Amino acid sequence: MNGAKSIPKKLLQLIILTVLLVYGCGEQPVTYPARLMPDGLMQDVAQLQAGQALFRSKCASCHGKTSEGRYDRAAFFIPPAPDFTGAHYREMDPAYLYWRIEVGKTVEPYRSQGSVMPAWGAHFSEKKIWQLVAYLQVRAH
Ligand code: HEC
Repeated sequence: MNGAKSIPKKLLQLIILTVLLVYGCGEQPVTYPARLMPDGLMQDVAQLQAGQALFRSKCASCHGKTSEGRYDRAAFFIPPAPDFTGAHYREMDPAYLYWRIEVGKTVEPYRSQGSVMPAWGAHFSEKKIWQLVAYLQVRAH
């Protein structure tokens, strides 16, 4: 083995390994279909109330506050279920929220992470999913 040549090769292997590890363990960018929230939805009180009612009946058991009926076991989900009060949800792409409600844990990387988020696409109309998205963004503060 030629010592002088093998050092750079090992260095190169180390660099490749580091890049793979950093990339593999970091936040992966996810891709989802582009969608536009219907115009005026965020200002439509009736639709926001419909979203809130849906949230309370179908989502609050995992995503709500204790006063909204959050399960005790929801505290132990890994990954955890956000309560959507974080201000960043206001800035988030509505198309991402729509997609997550639609497909839940059925897609990567959420499936491998052991997510318990149900996929609601087969249960809710497009209109209802948008009502939920709008409510989540209004809920954020
Ligand atoms: C059985 C518990 C459970 C129920 C019920 C549930 N979720 Fe989730 N949800 C989760 C968990 C856990 C996560 C975090 C893991 C993930 O992103 O998949 C999550 C993630 C999400 C996300 C992505 C959040 C983010 O920051 O990326 C959205 C959006 C969402 N849920 C919306 C809803 C809506 C709307 C409902 C009701 C129609 C609902 N969920 C019902 C458990 C639940």
